[in-house]
Amino acid sequence: MSRLKVEMNHTQYHSFRPGELWLDDHGVPINAHGGGVLFHDGVYYWFGEHKIAGEAGNAAHVGVHVYSSTDLYHWNDEGIALAVSDDPASPITRGCILERPKVIFNPRTKKFVMWFHLEPKAAFDYSGAMSGVAVADHVTGPFGFVAGFRPNAGVWPENVPAESQRELSPEEAAYVARLDCPGGPLPYYPKHLLFRRDFSGGQMARDQTLFVDDDGAAYHLYASEDNGTLHLSRLSGDYLSPAGKFIRVLPGRFNEAPALMKWHGRYFLFASGCTGWAANQARLLAADSLWGNWEELGCPCLGPGEQVTNTFNSQSTFILPVPGRTDAFIFMADRWNPANAMDGRYVWLPIEFRHNVPVIAWHDEWDLSFFDQANG
Ligand code: GAL
Repeated sequence: MSRLKVEMNHTQYHSFRPGELWLDDHGVPINAHGGGVLFHDGVYYWFGEHKIAGEAGNAAHVGVHVYSSTDLYHWNDEGIALAVSDDPASPITRGCILERPKVIFNPRTKKFVMWFHLEPKAAFDYSGAMSGVAVADHVTGPFGFVAGFRPNAGVWPENVPAESQRELSPEEAAYVARLDCPGGPLPYYPKHLLFRRDFSGGQMARDQTLFVDDDGAAYHLYASEDNGTLHLSRLSGDYLSPAGKFIRVLPGRFNEAPALMKWHGRYFLFASGCTGWAANQARLLAADSLWGNWEELGCPCLGPGEQVTNTFNSQSTFILPVPGRTDAFIFMADRWNPANAMDGRYVWLPIEFRHNVPVIAWHDEWDLSFFDQANG
Protein backbone atom coordinates (compact mmCIF):
# COMPACT_ATOMS: atom_id res chain seq x y z
CA MET A 1 0.00 0.00 0.00
CA SER A 2 2.67 2.48 1.02
CA ARG A 3 4.77 1.58 -2.02
CA LEU A 4 1.78 2.16 -4.24
CA LYS A 5 1.35 5.55 -2.68
CA VAL A 6 4.98 6.49 -3.26
CA GLU A 7 4.66 5.55 -6.90
CA MET A 8 1.46 7.53 -7.20
CA ASN A 9 3.16 10.55 -5.70
CA HIS A 10 5.12 10.83 -8.87
CA THR A 11 2.21 10.61 -11.24
CA GLN A 12 2.99 12.88 -14.13
CA TYR A 13 0.20 14.05 -16.33
CA HIS A 14 0.62 15.40 -19.82
CA SER A 15 -3.03 15.40 -20.75
CA PHE A 16 -6.60 15.43 -19.51
CA ARG A 17 -8.47 12.14 -19.49
CA PRO A 18 -12.13 13.01 -18.91
CA GLY A 19 -13.94 10.68 -16.52
CA GLU A 20 -10.74 8.87 -15.44
CA LEU A 21 -9.42 8.88 -11.90
CA TRP A 22 -7.33 12.04 -11.36
CA LEU A 23 -4.76 12.04 -8.57
CA ASP A 24 -3.41 14.98 -6.58
CA ASP A 25 0.19 15.48 -5.43
CA HIS A 26 -0.33 12.96 -2.62
CA GLY A 27 -1.51 10.28 -5.01
CA VAL A 28 -5.07 10.64 -3.74
CA PRO A 29 -8.05 11.24 -6.06
CA ILE A 30 -8.87 14.93 -6.34
CA ASN A 31 -11.93 15.60 -4.21
CA ALA A 32 -13.50 18.82 -5.55
CA HIS A 33 -16.93 18.11 -7.00
CA GLY A 34 -19.33 20.69 -8.41
CA GLY A 35 -16.33 22.96 -8.50
CA GLY A 36 -14.92 26.06 -10.08
CA VAL A 37 -11.45 27.43 -10.81
CA LEU A 38 -10.06 30.82 -9.83
CA PHE A 39 -6.88 32.04 -11.58
CA HIS A 40 -5.00 34.27 -9.18
CA ASP A 41 -1.41 35.62 -9.37
CA GLY A 42 -0.44 33.07 -11.98
CA VAL A 43 -1.84 30.06 -10.13
CA TYR A 44 -5.05 28.11 -10.68
CA TYR A 45 -7.13 27.26 -7.62
CA TRP A 46 -9.76 24.55 -7.96
CA PHE A 47 -12.48 24.71 -5.30
CA GLY A 48 -15.09 21.98 -4.98
CA GLU A 49 -17.23 19.89 -2.68
CA HIS A 50 -15.22 17.40 -0.62
CA LYS A 51 -17.31 14.25 -0.65
CA ILE A 52 -16.93 11.21 1.58
CA ALA A 53 -17.62 7.60 0.55
CA GLY A 54 -21.05 6.08 0.15
CA GLU A 55 -24.42 7.76 -0.03
CA ALA A 56 -23.51 9.74 3.08
CA GLY A 57 -21.17 11.69 0.83
CA ASN A 58 -24.09 13.49 -0.75
CA ALA A 59 -24.15 15.67 2.37
CA ALA A 60 -21.23 17.84 3.53
CA HIS A 61 -19.11 16.21 6.22
CA VAL A 62 -15.87 18.05 5.54
CA GLY A 63 -16.37 21.23 3.52
CA VAL A 64 -14.92 22.85 0.43
CA HIS A 65 -11.59 21.46 -0.74
CA VAL A 66 -9.05 23.58 -2.62
CA TYR A 67 -6.18 22.53 -4.89
CA SER A 68 -3.58 24.62 -6.69
CA SER A 69 -1.90 24.15 -10.03
CA THR A 70 0.32 26.00 -12.45
CA ASP A 71 -0.33 23.79 -15.47
CA LEU A 72 -3.92 22.53 -14.96
CA TYR A 73 -2.72 18.90 -15.07
CA HIS A 74 -1.03 18.59 -11.66
CA TRP A 75 -2.97 19.65 -8.59
CA ASN A 76 -1.54 20.23 -5.14
CA ASP A 77 -3.75 19.59 -2.15
CA GLU A 78 -4.12 22.92 -0.33
CA GLY A 79 -6.53 21.53 2.23
CA ILE A 80 -10.03 22.51 3.26
CA ALA A 81 -10.82 26.11 2.35
CA LEU A 82 -14.17 26.21 4.13
CA ALA A 83 -14.77 23.66 6.86
CA VAL A 84 -18.22 22.57 8.00
CA SER A 85 -18.97 23.56 11.58
CA ASP A 86 -19.14 21.37 14.66
CA ASP A 87 -21.78 23.69 16.08
CA PRO A 88 -25.20 22.09 15.47
CA ALA A 89 -26.72 25.58 15.40
CA SER A 90 -24.54 26.71 12.50
CA PRO A 91 -26.16 26.77 9.03
CA ILE A 92 -23.06 24.95 7.76
CA THR A 93 -23.08 22.32 10.46
CA ARG A 94 -21.60 18.93 9.56
CA GLY A 95 -24.21 17.00 7.57
CA CYS A 96 -25.72 20.05 5.87
CA ILE A 97 -25.81 20.13 2.08
CA LEU A 98 -23.20 22.43 0.61
CA GLU A 99 -22.91 22.32 -3.18
CA ARG A 100 -21.34 23.98 -6.21
CA PRO A 101 -18.97 26.36 -4.40
CA LYS A 102 -17.48 29.13 -6.55
CA VAL A 103 -14.80 31.61 -5.50
CA ILE A 104 -14.01 35.06 -6.93
CA PHE A 105 -11.47 37.69 -5.91
CA ASN A 106 -12.51 41.23 -5.15
CA PRO A 107 -9.65 43.60 -6.09
CA ARG A 108 -11.18 46.47 -4.13
CA THR A 109 -11.55 44.69 -0.79
CA LYS A 110 -8.70 42.22 -1.52
CA LYS A 111 -10.96 39.46 -0.22
CA PHE A 112 -11.74 36.08 -1.71
CA VAL A 113 -15.48 35.53 -1.77
CA MET A 114 -17.17 32.13 -1.98
CA TRP A 115 -20.83 31.49 -2.81
CA PHE A 116 -22.44 28.06 -2.62
CA HIS A 117 -25.80 26.32 -2.57
CA LEU A 118 -26.75 25.67 1.03
CA GLU A 119 -29.36 23.35 2.52
CA PRO A 120 -28.84 24.02 6.21
CA LYS A 121 -31.09 21.31 7.54
CA ALA A 122 -29.73 18.58 5.28
CA ALA A 123 -33.17 18.65 3.75
CA PHE A 124 -32.85 16.01 1.08
CA ASP A 125 -35.94 17.47 -0.49
CA TYR A 126 -33.72 20.53 -1.00
CA SER A 127 -36.47 22.75 0.37
CA GLY A 128 -34.04 25.20 1.98
CA ALA A 129 -32.81 26.42 -1.42
CA MET A 130 -30.45 28.99 0.06
CA SER A 131 -27.22 30.67 -0.90
CA GLY A 132 -24.25 30.59 1.44
CA VAL A 133 -21.48 33.19 1.43
CA ALA A 134 -18.01 32.89 2.94
CA VAL A 135 -14.97 35.16 2.79
CA ALA A 136 -11.21 34.83 3.22
CA ASP A 137 -8.07 36.98 3.23
CA HIS A 138 -6.01 34.25 1.57
CA VAL A 139 -6.96 32.35 -1.52
CA THR A 140 -6.71 28.92 0.09
CA GLY A 141 -8.61 30.08 3.17
CA PRO A 142 -9.55 29.58 5.86
CA PHE A 143 -12.87 30.98 4.69
CA GLY A 144 -15.21 32.28 7.35
CA PHE A 145 -18.92 31.75 6.93
CA VAL A 146 -20.75 35.07 6.46
CA ALA A 147 -24.42 34.25 5.93
CA GLY A 148 -26.96 31.86 4.47
CA PHE A 149 -30.13 33.30 2.95
CA ARG A 150 -32.52 33.28 0.05
CA PRO A 151 -31.39 36.05 -2.29
CA ASN A 152 -33.27 39.11 -3.46
CA ALA A 153 -35.91 39.31 -0.73
CA GLY A 154 -38.10 42.33 -1.32
CA VAL A 155 -36.81 42.95 -4.85
CA TRP A 156 -38.83 42.51 -8.03
CA PRO A 157 -37.12 41.08 -11.11
CA GLU A 158 -36.24 43.74 -13.70
CA ASN A 159 -37.90 41.92 -16.55
CA VAL A 160 -41.46 41.39 -15.35
CA PRO A 161 -44.32 43.72 -16.17
CA ALA A 162 -45.54 46.15 -13.53
CA GLU A 163 -48.80 44.25 -13.11
CA SER A 164 -46.85 41.14 -12.01
CA GLN A 165 -45.04 43.05 -9.32
CA ARG A 166 -47.39 42.11 -6.53
CA GLU A 167 -47.45 39.37 -3.96
CA LEU A 168 -49.83 36.43 -4.33
CA SER A 169 -53.46 36.90 -3.43
CA PRO A 170 -54.72 34.49 -0.73
CA GLU A 171 -56.40 32.42 -3.47
CA GLU A 172 -53.19 32.23 -5.52
CA ALA A 173 -51.18 31.39 -2.41
CA ALA A 174 -53.58 28.58 -1.53
CA TYR A 175 -53.39 27.24 -5.10
CA VAL A 176 -49.58 27.27 -5.12
CA ALA A 177 -49.44 25.67 -1.67
CA ARG A 178 -51.50 22.73 -2.95
CA LEU A 179 -49.14 22.09 -5.86
CA ASP A 180 -46.34 19.64 -5.45
CA CYS A 181 -43.34 21.11 -7.27
CA PRO A 182 -40.72 18.35 -7.39
CA GLY A 183 -37.89 20.47 -8.82
CA GLY A 184 -38.36 19.14 -12.34
CA PRO A 185 -40.72 19.97 -15.21
CA LEU A 186 -44.38 19.33 -14.73
CA PRO A 187 -47.38 20.25 -16.87
CA TYR A 188 -49.02 22.43 -14.27
CA TYR A 189 -45.88 24.31 -13.30
CA PRO A 190 -47.08 27.77 -12.22
CA LYS A 191 -44.63 29.65 -14.41
CA HIS A 192 -45.34 33.17 -13.20
CA LEU A 193 -46.44 32.66 -9.60
CA LEU A 194 -43.42 31.39 -7.70
CA PHE A 195 -41.22 34.49 -7.81
CA ARG A 196 -44.22 36.40 -6.46
CA ARG A 197 -44.68 33.80 -3.69
CA ASP A 198 -41.03 34.23 -2.68
CA PHE A 199 -40.86 38.02 -2.91
CA SER A 200 -40.78 38.75 0.79
CA GLY A 201 -38.82 35.72 2.01
CA GLY A 202 -36.25 35.72 -0.80
CA GLN A 203 -35.97 33.69 -3.96
CA MET A 204 -35.13 29.99 -3.96
CA ALA A 205 -31.51 29.35 -5.01
CA ARG A 206 -30.17 25.88 -5.76
CA ASP A 207 -27.60 25.12 -8.52
CA GLN A 208 -25.49 28.20 -8.87
CA THR A 209 -22.40 29.87 -10.26
CA LEU A 210 -20.58 33.20 -10.15
CA PHE A 211 -19.29 35.30 -13.02
CA VAL A 212 -17.11 38.42 -13.01
CA ASP A 213 -17.46 40.59 -16.09
CA ASP A 214 -14.62 42.59 -17.68
CA ASP A 215 -15.66 45.71 -15.75
CA GLY A 216 -15.30 43.93 -12.40
CA ALA A 217 -19.05 43.64 -11.79
CA ALA A 218 -19.94 40.23 -10.39
CA TYR A 219 -23.06 38.17 -10.98
CA HIS A 220 -24.74 35.26 -9.27
CA LEU A 221 -26.75 32.81 -11.37
CA TYR A 222 -28.98 30.36 -9.60
CA ALA A 223 -31.77 27.92 -10.32
CA SER A 224 -34.84 29.45 -8.70
CA GLU A 225 -38.60 29.09 -8.54
CA ASP A 226 -38.49 25.34 -7.74
CA ASN A 227 -35.80 25.01 -10.44
CA GLY A 228 -38.16 26.24 -13.19
CA THR A 229 -36.35 29.52 -13.84
CA LEU A 230 -32.77 30.72 -13.65
CA HIS A 231 -32.12 34.07 -12.04
CA LEU A 232 -29.20 36.29 -12.98
CA SER A 233 -28.47 38.64 -10.11
CA ARG A 234 -25.93 41.43 -9.75
CA LEU A 235 -23.71 41.31 -6.65
CA SER A 236 -22.81 44.25 -4.44
CA GLY A 237 -19.44 46.00 -4.85
CA ASP A 238 -17.89 43.82 -2.14
CA TYR A 239 -19.44 40.70 -3.76
CA LEU A 240 -20.93 39.67 -0.40
CA SER A 241 -24.61 40.23 -1.09
CA PRO A 242 -27.09 40.76 -3.92
CA ALA A 243 -27.05 44.33 -5.24
CA GLY A 244 -30.84 44.39 -5.64
CA LYS A 245 -31.05 43.95 -9.41
CA PHE A 246 -31.93 40.66 -11.07
CA ILE A 247 -33.73 39.12 -14.03
CA ARG A 248 -35.53 35.86 -14.72
CA VAL A 249 -34.01 33.79 -17.53
CA LEU A 250 -36.28 31.56 -19.66
CA PRO A 251 -39.10 31.08 -17.14
CA GLY A 252 -40.41 27.52 -16.95
CA ARG A 253 -37.54 26.01 -18.97
CA PHE A 254 -36.07 24.15 -15.95
CA ASN A 255 -32.42 24.95 -16.55
CA GLU A 256 -29.89 24.15 -13.83
CA ALA A 257 -26.12 23.58 -13.48
CA PRO A 258 -25.40 27.04 -14.94
CA ALA A 259 -21.90 27.84 -16.26
CA LEU A 260 -21.28 31.16 -17.95
CA MET A 261 -18.60 32.37 -20.36
CA LYS A 262 -17.99 35.49 -22.43
CA TRP A 263 -16.54 35.30 -25.91
CA HIS A 264 -16.06 38.22 -28.29
CA GLY A 265 -18.52 40.33 -26.33
CA ARG A 266 -21.25 37.71 -26.32
CA TYR A 267 -22.36 35.70 -23.29
CA PHE A 268 -22.90 31.95 -23.48
CA LEU A 269 -24.59 30.03 -20.71
CA PHE A 270 -24.28 26.27 -20.46
CA ALA A 271 -26.95 24.52 -18.41
CA SER A 272 -28.63 21.16 -17.98
CA GLY A 273 -32.16 19.94 -17.48
CA CYS A 274 -33.33 18.97 -14.00
CA THR A 275 -32.95 15.22 -13.46
CA GLY A 276 -31.09 15.14 -10.14
CA TRP A 277 -27.84 13.16 -10.21
CA ALA A 278 -28.72 11.50 -13.53
CA ALA A 279 -27.13 13.12 -16.56
CA ASN A 280 -29.29 14.71 -19.24
CA GLN A 281 -28.87 16.73 -22.40
CA ALA A 282 -27.05 20.05 -22.01
CA ARG A 283 -28.50 23.31 -23.23
CA LEU A 284 -26.75 26.40 -24.51
CA LEU A 285 -28.16 29.89 -24.12
CA ALA A 286 -26.76 33.13 -25.53
CA ALA A 287 -27.23 36.86 -25.06
CA ASP A 288 -25.49 40.07 -26.15
CA SER A 289 -26.03 41.53 -22.70
CA LEU A 290 -26.19 39.78 -19.35
CA TRP A 291 -29.53 41.50 -18.85
CA GLY A 292 -30.90 39.72 -21.90
CA ASN A 293 -32.61 38.84 -23.96
CA TRP A 294 -31.42 35.30 -23.48
CA GLU A 295 -32.16 32.91 -26.32
CA GLU A 296 -31.77 29.16 -26.29
CA LEU A 297 -29.50 27.87 -29.06
CA GLY A 298 -29.96 24.15 -28.44
CA CYS A 299 -27.60 21.40 -27.36
CA PRO A 300 -23.88 22.27 -27.44
CA CYS A 301 -22.69 18.65 -27.56
CA LEU A 302 -21.42 17.06 -30.76
CA GLY A 303 -21.22 13.33 -31.31
CA PRO A 304 -23.28 10.19 -31.53
CA GLY A 305 -26.28 9.11 -29.47
CA GLU A 306 -25.77 9.15 -25.75
CA GLN A 307 -22.80 11.49 -25.90
CA VAL A 308 -25.26 14.15 -26.89
CA THR A 309 -28.33 13.02 -25.00
CA ASN A 310 -26.52 12.73 -21.67
CA THR A 311 -23.71 15.28 -22.14
CA PHE A 312 -20.97 12.63 -22.10
CA ASN A 313 -22.61 11.32 -18.93
CA SER A 314 -21.96 14.54 -17.03
CA GLN A 315 -23.46 17.81 -15.86
CA SER A 316 -21.90 21.25 -16.32
CA THR A 317 -20.36 23.05 -13.38
CA PHE A 318 -17.96 25.73 -14.70
CA ILE A 319 -16.34 27.20 -17.79
CA LEU A 320 -12.65 27.83 -17.25
CA PRO A 321 -11.11 30.47 -19.53
CA VAL A 322 -7.45 29.48 -20.04
CA PRO A 323 -5.38 32.64 -19.51
CA GLY A 324 -2.78 33.51 -22.09
CA ARG A 325 -4.48 31.57 -24.86
CA THR A 326 -6.89 32.92 -27.40
CA ASP A 327 -10.36 31.45 -27.54
CA ALA A 328 -9.40 28.76 -25.03
CA PHE A 329 -12.09 27.60 -22.63
CA ILE A 330 -12.51 24.34 -20.75
CA PHE A 331 -15.96 22.88 -20.10
CA MET A 332 -15.89 21.45 -16.56
CA ALA A 333 -18.57 18.95 -15.63
CA ASP A 334 -19.32 16.31 -13.02
CA ARG A 335 -20.09 12.66 -13.58
CA TRP A 336 -21.95 12.12 -10.32
CA ASN A 337 -21.94 8.87 -8.40
CA PRO A 338 -24.58 9.31 -5.69
CA ALA A 339 -24.13 5.72 -4.38
CA ASN A 340 -20.48 6.47 -3.67
CA ALA A 341 -20.34 10.25 -3.84
CA MET A 342 -16.57 10.50 -3.38
CA ASP A 343 -16.03 8.55 -6.60
CA GLY A 344 -17.83 11.06 -8.79
CA ARG A 345 -15.56 11.91 -11.74
CA TYR A 346 -14.55 15.08 -13.53
CA VAL A 347 -15.21 15.59 -17.20
CA TRP A 348 -13.08 18.38 -18.61
CA LEU A 349 -13.44 18.98 -22.34
CA PRO A 350 -12.13 21.70 -24.64
CA ILE A 351 -14.64 24.12 -26.07
CA GLU A 352 -14.51 24.58 -29.84
CA PHE A 353 -16.21 27.27 -31.85
CA ARG A 354 -18.37 26.37 -34.83
CA HIS A 355 -20.21 29.12 -36.66
CA ASN A 356 -19.43 31.42 -33.73
CA VAL A 357 -21.05 29.07 -31.23
CA PRO A 358 -19.19 27.16 -28.50
CA VAL A 359 -19.58 23.40 -28.80
CA ILE A 360 -18.11 20.35 -27.07
CA ALA A 361 -17.04 16.98 -28.44
CA TRP A 362 -15.72 13.95 -26.60
CA HIS A 363 -11.98 13.26 -26.31
CA ASP A 364 -10.62 10.21 -24.49
CA GLU A 365 -7.49 12.24 -23.96
CA TRP A 366 -6.46 15.78 -24.88
CA ASP A 367 -4.01 18.46 -23.84
CA LEU A 368 -3.74 22.23 -23.99
CA SER A 369 -2.06 22.15 -27.41
CA PHE A 370 -5.54 21.35 -28.65
CA PHE A 371 -6.25 25.06 -28.52
CA ASP A 372 -3.23 25.90 -30.70
CA GLN A 373 -4.47 23.48 -33.35
CA ALA A 374 -8.10 24.53 -33.04
CA ASN A 375 -7.29 28.19 -33.42
CA GLY A 376 -4.06 28.08 -35.39
C1 GAL B 1 -28.59 18.01 -9.33
C2 GAL B 1 -27.71 19.20 -9.03
C3 GAL B 1 -26.64 18.78 -8.06
C4 GAL B 1 -27.34 18.20 -6.85
C5 GAL B 1 -28.27 17.09 -7.23
C6 GAL B 1 -29.03 16.51 -6.06
O1 GAL B 1 -29.65 18.36 -10.17
O2 GAL B 1 -27.15 19.70 -10.21
O3 GAL B 1 -25.81 19.87 -7.75
O4 GAL B 1 -28.07 19.23 -6.21
O5 GAL B 1 -29.21 17.54 -8.19
O6 GAL B 1 -29.99 15.58 -6.50
